[in-house]
Amino acid sequence: MRTLVIGAGGREHALAMALARDPSVTEVHVAPGNPGTEQVATRHQVDALDPEAVAALAETLAAGLVVVGPEAPLVAGVADAVRARGIACFGPSARAARLEGSKAFAKEVMAAAGVPTAAARVCRTPEETSAALDELGSPYVVKDDGLAAGKGVVVTGDRDEALAHAAACEQVLVEEYLDGPEVSIFAVTDGSTVVPLRPAQDFKRALDGDAGPNTGGMGAYTPLPWAPPGLVEEVLATVLQPTVDEMARRGTPFQGLLYAGLALTGRGVRVIEFNARFGDPETQPLLALLASPLGVLLSAAAEGRLHELGPVAWHDGAAVAVVLAAAGYPDTPRTGDVVEGLAEAAAMDGVEVVHAGTAYDDAGRVVTAGGRVLAVTAVGADVADARAKAYAGVGAVRFAGSRFRTDIAAGA
Ligand code: AMP
Ligand code: GLY
Repeated sequence: MRTLVIGAGGREHALAMALARDPSVTEVHVAPGNPGTEQVATRHQVDALDPEAVAALAETLAAGLVVVGPEAPLVAGVADAVRARGIACFGPSARAARLEGSKAFAKEVMAAAGVPTAAARVCRTPEETSAALDELGSPYVVKDDGLAAGKGVVVTGDRDEALAHAAACEQVLVEEYLDGPEVSIFAVTDGSTVVPLRPAQDFKRALDGDAGPNTGGMGAYTPLPWAPPGLVEEVLATVLQPTVDEMARRGTPFQGLLYAGLALTGRGVRVIEFNARFGDPETQPLLALLASPLGVLLSAAAEGRLHELGPVAWHDGAAVAVVLAAAGYPDTPRTGDVVEGLAEAAAMDGVEVVHAGTAYDDAGRVVTAGGRVLAVTAVGADVADARAKAYAGVGAVRFAGSRFRTDIAAGA
């Protein structure tokens, strides 16, 4: 089977690596990809937001499976265009991707499906926002309703800051504050059968100790030794399956990766958000431990045959990913800094360097080209071992202004 991965980040590099390990996958193509993906895939240029251009590329390559990485192409209808040409595509339709594209829509689906989540009010005016802040109380949670790459949320005790964020958005959700540790659970689904993967934890804040602004994610690890037993089964029964069933009932079946961002509160599990695609950087450690062939799993989902597969298999041990971000991230990342030590890090025991925001300069050197530059990912016997290996890898990679958290997976 020939596969084509759409996207340019760390998630797509990790997907391409895992597809390349699957014996049933004969070729991995990626568009547009990044310098890291060249180690395992053939790169093609494409405007990932242009559904017809992506579909045409898939047809030219005679791809048997297209895997769409990021949310924006899904919301733009890339999966619909690929499927319209009779090519299997892992990823939801534009209508189903609204589960991520509109937080108000996701709340409506959760209410209909009886899925536990934070109370929320949709607000379009300062008066509405003000009333909702008073009703739901401090700490205030204000979310941009549209896609914002994980950066559209403000959690604050400062009412003026909450109002200012709302004023900068067309429509916001004001939410009840959820306390407790956050867990990401990803599920592969064909629209009816739901196959959950292992829980992972992501570190969203920019700085150690969960300080600083929200980012796309500064690191992740899996499994979670502290997670309550039965968590995945509970989330499958109370969150994932009811949501997939409700989407099917509405005539907009969700096929692809359903990402549940959860808070384990004192009153039980609550959904913080849904995403319609693999999380970044959680995908890096998750796929590093996946023993099942990824191409087989994703094509079974794309073709409505997930019920035919056995349970997902995992390697023993744990995996940790530490993101190296560019100077200025998350506000205005600086680009063009030369990255050194990549081969040195990749040669270390258990370490793989996953590229995200990298590019070549005119001299053919790898340089920074985005906010999150690399995710140094390591597999070890347990979380502590994987963590030590990942940070050893981080120590080998150098670029001017590089910043990373030193406490990824430290609490595990
Ligand atoms: P989201 O874009 O919805 O995933 O939100 C990004 C981050 O903001 C989450 O990972 C949480 O850390 C935080 N957050 C979002 N919603 C809430 C909430 N209702 N209560 C507390 N923290 C939240
Ligand atoms: N790691 C958070 C996300 O992918 O949205």
